Amino acid sequence: MTLAIIGGTGLTQIEQLNITGQRELETPFGAPSAPYVLGELNGQSLIFLARHGNPHRIPPHKINYRANIWGLKQLGATEIIGVAAVGGIGAEMGPARIAIPEQLIDYSYGREHSFFADDLAHVTHIDFTEPYTPSLRRRIVQAAASAGIEVYDGGVYGCTQGPRLETVAEIKRMANDGCDLVGMTGMPEAALARELEIPYANISVVANWAAGIGEGEITMAEIEKNLLTGMSNAIALLQATVLS
Ligand code: HPA
Repeated sequence: MTLAIIGGTGLTQIEQLNITGQRELETPFGAPSAPYVLGELNGQSLIFLARHGNPHRIPPHKINYRANIWGLKQLGATEIIGVAAVGGIGAEMGPARIAIPEQLIDYSYGREHSFFADDLAHVTHIDFTEPYTPSLRRRIVQAAASAGIEVYDGGVYGCTQGPRLETVAEIKRMANDGCDLVGMTGMPEAALARELEIPYANISVVANWAAGIGEGEITMAEIEKNLLTGMSNAIALLQATVLS
């Protein structure tokens, strides 16, 4: 098994990773966000990719999700954990909280979202009933429990287009739809992994209360402060997961 981790805002690199190499790839879909970092975390080898590039420079709607996932398949990744900063909508989803979502709704648009787009011998419709691979989700949740790291097991992730944050009305609509979390990068990443039959799960780190849920405007200072705590817990969770 080769685990891959895609790190989002606040997780451009993992300091605890013992780096053993780097791979720069071109794919039929263009260039991935950054060179793939090969390394060992707690003695377990894995592949790390900075979703927004390193340094962080690619906004959510400009990420080449297809190249990122295709490259991981080429490198032999057999499971992927996507780590993402999100806004909290549900009452349980306060700042710095970690959630392992179970469902998603895609509100993004105009992104290259499928490998099955052109020149098809036949149209392929993947099953996406459970967008996050249940066995991988369970493994993360169990690793959290054994390591004593508090996580929320479940929730619905809503993926917006960004890069702007949402309006109060948009968040109300998302809450009515059943969303607990709002982020900008969860899709099409999860669906592309499924198209290539790579098990995929998400670790969401809450950076802020979503628009209108908390008081006043959302500031980058608040987001950065919460991500500092949240991402260090997410790294501890990844360390526990690779050992499980
Ligand atoms: N909305 C969307 N994406 C986000 C947010 C948010 O409030 N916070 C961090 N990523």
